[in-house]
Amino acid sequence: MELLELLKERYSVRNFADKPVEQEKLDKIIAAGMAAPSAKNFQPVKVYVLKSEEAIQKIRDVTRCAYNAPVVFMIAVDKNKEWHNDLEEEITSGTQDASIVCDHMMLEAASLGLGSVWVGWFAPSKAHEAFELPENEQVIMLLPVGYAAETSVPAPNHTKRIPREEMFKEL
Ligand SMILES: Cc1cc2nc3c(=O)[nH]c(=O)nc-3n(C[C@H](O)[C@H](O)[C@H](O)COP(=O)(O)O)c2cc1C
Repeated sequence: MELLELLKERYSVRNFADKPVEQEKLDKIIAAGMAAPSAKNFQPVKVYVLKSEEAIQKIRDVTRCAYNAPVVFMIAVDKNKEWHNDLEEEITSGTQDASIVCDHMMLEAASLGLGSVWVGWFAPSKAHEAFELPENEQVIMLLPVGYAAETSVPAPNHTKRIPREEMFKEL
């Protein structure tokens, strides 16, 4: 499938089939995350692959947005490794680095016929505490992944996009 076609076909899946994801597919998703660029190639992103019963239960206790996915990628940044923009010191790269890792994984999952949903609505500090992460790591987002349930359909707003002129300005 053409990349643009895949980008348009992907939608947020929030209802998953009761079917495990093959390790081969997880490995490809992981390889996609590893292929992501990062600021200055500092590679500050840490990804926790939650798939044991215990880990899945823990993340479901933190947020209902883990849905019923069999696997949840919990994407964090090592604050000691992220790039600092020395022209405006308060700007750091961690969230951007994590986002591109998450996007690469989300799209690879779609290309493998899997569903996923990017999750930002949870308390990162609760996830940090539940998984006893090191102090220098900050959880940024979650990516629940699995086979979409047969009844899964895109949300009504999936195709709603602002007009091209509103988003892109030619200067
Ligand atoms: C930064 C970000 C945070 C999001 N957080 C959540 C979330 O917490 N829960 C959820 O169900 N969907 C979440 N989404 C999914 C969006 O709601 C979804 O991408 C958007 O409505 C467009 O729908 P589509 O992905 O089907 O095209 C998030 C997406 C992004 C990019």
